[in-house]
Amino acid sequence: MKKQTLLLFPILLIAIFLYGFKKFVIDEQKTHLATNLDIRVEQKVDSVLALMHLNEKIGQLVQYSGKWNATGPSSSNGDQHKLNKLKNGEVGSMLNITSVESTRETQKIVMENSRLKIPLIFGYDVIHGYKTIFPIPLGESASWDLDIIKKTASIAAKEAAASGIQWTFAPMIDVSRDARWGRIMEGAGEDTYLNAVIGVARVQGFQGDDLSKSNTIAACAKHFAGYGFAEAGRDYNTVNIGEYELHNAILPPFKAAAEAGVATFMNSFNEIDGIPSTGNKMLQRDILKGDWGWNGFVVSDWGSIGELIAHGYAKDKKQAAEIALNAGSDMDMESYAYEAHLETLLKEKKISLAQLDDAVKRILRLKFNLGLFDDPYKYCDEAREKNNVYTKEHLAIARDAAKKSIVLLKNETKLLPFSKNLKSIAVIGPLADDKDAPLGNWRAKGEYNSSMSLLEGVKSAVGKNTKIYYEKGGDLTMPTIKPGDNQFLYPLRFNTTDVSGIPAAVEAAKKGEVVLLAIGEDAFQTGEGRSQTNIGFFGVQQQLLEAVYKVNKNVVIVLMNGRPMDISWAANNVPTILECWFLGSESGNAMADVLFGDYNPSGKLPVSFPHNVGQEPLYYNQKNTGRPYSPSHVTYSGYTDAPKTALYPFGFGLSYTTFEYKNLKLDKNTISKTEEIKLSVEVSNTGTRDGEEVVQLYIRDLVGSLTRPVKELKGFQKTMIKAGETKTIYFAVNADMLQFYTINKKWEVELGDFNVWVGGDSNAPLKASFSVTE
Ligand code: BGC
Repeated sequence: MKKQTLLLFPILLIAIFLYGFKKFVIDEQKTHLATNLDIRVEQKVDSVLALMHLNEKIGQLVQYSGKWNATGPSSSNGDQHKLNKLKNGEVGSMLNITSVESTRETQKIVMENSRLKIPLIFGYDVIHGYKTIFPIPLGESASWDLDIIKKTASIAAKEAAASGIQWTFAPMIDVSRDARWGRIMEGAGEDTYLNAVIGVARVQGFQGDDLSKSNTIAACAKHFAGYGFAEAGRDYNTVNIGEYELHNAILPPFKAAAEAGVATFMNSFNEIDGIPSTGNKMLQRDILKGDWGWNGFVVSDWGSIGELIAHGYAKDKKQAAEIALNAGSDMDMESYAYEAHLETLLKEKKISLAQLDDAVKRILRLKFNLGLFDDPYKYCDEAREKNNVYTKEHLAIARDAAKKSIVLLKNETKLLPFSKNLKSIAVIGPLADDKDAPLGNWRAKGEYNSSMSLLEGVKSAVGKNTKIYYEKGGDLTMPTIKPGDNQFLYPLRFNTTDVSGIPAAVEAAKKGEVVLLAIGEDAFQTGEGRSQTNIGFFGVQQQLLEAVYKVNKNVVIVLMNGRPMDISWAANNVPTILECWFLGSESGNAMADVLFGDYNPSGKLPVSFPHNVGQEPLYYNQKNTGRPYSPSHVTYSGYTDAPKTALYPFGFGLSYTTFEYKNLKLDKNTISKTEEIKLSVEVSNTGTRDGEEVVQLYIRDLVGSLTRPVKELKGFQKTMIKAGETKTIYFAVNADMLQFYTINKKWEVELGDFNVWVGGDSNAPLKASFSVTE
């Protein structure tokens, strides 16, 4: 080798070293700058983007539904159109295609025909379970048990992922204060804080700690934003809330989900103050992607880009596409607006390439994170689909979640828990042996009639010597939906007047030592498009209730429902009421666990139950107003014919034991904005059974730059307390609990006086006060 060549070698080595070092430093800086972005993924995303033609970029922003399970008006575009688009690599995602076989078949179309072979992502509404069905989200929220909530979401993810799905359109974290709104069943109820912590638990459950694992799926925080505030509880209706209410009441659960790393957001059908959310730049670009620095993508709601026309916000689909893309809606679910118009809009400079590229990158990023580029069929494993879905272990978790979701509303005569040696039980009511209703709405692949009915649960709990008398007593007013039916096209019927079943029910009631009366709602009375002005018992249920109660006072009302109902007659007359929501696959067993005392109920209401529908929207954390209450005068902010408070308040729920709260102590009464107070309270189990209690902490900021609610939930702890035991519970009262979105348009703690309450519901009587000073 020549001498010069030998000399060059070490120089080259030094050069490579220096280059590598510099690259390392730059990469490190980039990683730092890009906060939570993974630089390796970003490089891959950029390299794919660089190869993409315009039609392929636009294609990534397109989402089609499979033919079945449509959740909105179906489009006129036929299957052939979708097929061609898939072949050309002009579709980013499909929804409503499930099973390994179908997702593989669809993925193959893209892989075998398209130029760049960018894998599809398959989305589906996995709301409270995939095939193993857990309690409806509102019901499960009544558990206030973040561990079980996270667990059920993780099982739902495992089953969905085993069936070809990588993305769920959940959790819904819309704060909802109106029982008339059918979709109240899908969230965590009326409280902002509860929606935030439960939403985060669900996101963590679905996504786990690594999206690339084959048993986790991407979550979707929806509906951004304000959907739960629909005027008069009418679905899709106008929302009129001020900027401060938006920030203080509605956005915190979304911010918490974004911080927890939720992969996607879905925008909402409603407008807020004249701007439909799908076209709302302030929400999607400025707040979500700007202030919060969130890196995921926003999918529109079903057809919501096209609906900008009906809103009167766009004159045609082209303008709708322009508005939505500029506002930050990245993916078009079933509007066919992006595929038709983005190219022209780009030519006309009505949208920018930078914005288009940004949307594409967000979608590609998730596909990389899910591992789809490594293996587009990694979710298509027949063995997993066969063995990981609807297993015994999953059903056991469903039973656990279900029993923890039950709320004991009334047990005045201590009728509950029952002995398993009762001589006889009458099990009555249209829902008593219903094996389908307990699956609730949004039941994904939950099979028709696959739930355990109350009757079945009771039969398997009692011994041979207990006689059971079953009578249906009458029909529920909604027809039950059969497999293959599209519930969105189902006719509504509220006209059942047939009382012919009541006499037999009365005879059964006479024979029973006790009566279980299962009444409430049909599974499909709540859910999308299921708003009602009457939240009482439909059909002949009220007559049935009164007739049964007349002949046997030992009645337990077993309520099954998806919303707070008007149960005032029952509450005023019948001593025992158990709120059982729609509890899912293991409903009957879970109800029996509570009825016979194998589980001591621990659920607490995530929504206020009203005295009557006229009180709606009803929520505990109202403003005081200038005229809060007057015992002697009608000119106060209430009603002349009903109380202004709830029949059963937020946070309420009884146990078979009793809890006493005492010695609420603060370690200081004055703090600065950055200090914290250590709060302690003693909670004693004064009964004879072990039991869990949800210890709740509420705070009121007495005077603010904006008026503040009369109290707000700021923390809770669910804890087991043995019979006779006293536990000291601690909370750290800190800036997180005291701050709000102030007149200065930022989250901050204001100086002044505060009250704090601790107790077992939102009427917690134990109170202390403190001040925040300079
Ligand atoms: C609902 C969404 C749902 C979507 C897809 C819409 O009608 O509002 O919550 O995820 O359909 O099924």
